Amino acid sequence: MILALESSCDETAAAICGLDGSLKSSRIASQAEIHRKYGGVVPEVASRNHILHVRTLVEEVLADAGLNLGDVHAFAATSGPGLVSSLLIGVSMAKALAVAEKKPFLAVNHMEGHLLSPFMGDAGPIRPNVSLIVSGGHTMLVDVRGVGEYTLLGKTRDDAAGEAFDKVAKMLGLPYPGGPEIDRQARAGDPAAFDFPRSFMSGDSLEFSFSGLKTAVLYQMRDQDLQAPGVLANACASVQDAIVDVLVEKLVRAARLCGKSLVTVSGGVSCNRRLRQRLTERCEREGLDLLLARPDLSTDNAAMIAFTAVQRFQRGQTSPMDADVDPNLPLVA
Ligand code: KG4
Ligand code: ZN
Repeated sequence: MILALESSCDETAAAICGLDGSLKSSRIASQAEIHRKYGGVVPEVASRNHILHVRTLVEEVLADAGLNLGDVHAFAATSGPGLVSSLLIGVSMAKALAVAEKKPFLAVNHMEGHLLSPFMGDAGPIRPNVSLIVSGGHTMLVDVRGVGEYTLLGKTRDDAAGEAFDKVAKMLGLPYPGGPEIDRQARAGDPAAFDFPRSFMSGDSLEFSFSGLKTAVLYQMRDQDLQAPGVLANACASVQDAIVDVLVEKLVRAARLCGKSLVTVSGGVSCNRRLRQRLTERCEREGLDLLLARPDLSTDNAAMIAFTAVQRFQRGQTSPMDADVDPNLPLVA
């Protein structure tokens, strides 16, 4: 059994995985409501709320799994990337538990948690793939040869996909976090109503850029009445398709360039209904196998951290007790 904590941003989470990778229990205390009134995450408020929730979450996941602390073989926590004052809470708690129980500690990279999350459940063993990670802080394409064997193929030059969703949503007067709001509003909209830019679509580029989209939305929406029937839904559907088009195209391109037949998609944005639908259709046409992270394991959670820790632990890898947090921890050194 591995007990893992996740506190890199505004969700405090705890989970337990068996050493075979099976999920025993998982809980998340979301702070979204608290940060909504500020329109984004306030680091000091996040860290304070992690402190308030972390201990209860540990007790709850142990109770859910019917385990005692003594049954846990190792304690893990996200050590980066993320907000430094938030990361410190989970890492300090996991280290304290490890010291008290005389068990190993594992520092886990949050992005590796996302990257491996599509293999949780009944997806079968971890196997080579091209991975698209789309979260609030990152947009990356990674060539995955095995656990810990990663090559970065491309990333965003400016905003992450989730960040683009959130910033555009804010411009359209929608509450934080904006991604799920755009997803909801877009259902009633026409994706061809507005023509928003798609960056780096020509050639072989595997880079992303979403800052031009923000500017385009700002200018095109200036003369629009968002209260008029259909305008908001059309804007949301058009923005969503501009982002989804690029993500789908680049993932298929990366798979072709690397000669991989399996593609995986994870991170908060992979919850997006339109993205999931378009990926499914396109991969079927291209003859690619597609593994999507389960929606409840796509946004931040500790289950993916426990699962990643299990992979590391089974390979004999643990972390020293003085392992530090790193707000900019890279996936590929
Ligand atoms: O992976 P995640 O929970 O946190 C980070 O590691 O950043 O991703 C959060 C991001 C936010 O930007 C949020 O707006 C976006 O994922 N998101 C979505 C959807 N659900 C969450 N974006 C588009 N459509 C969704 N349904
Ligand atoms: Zn994340």
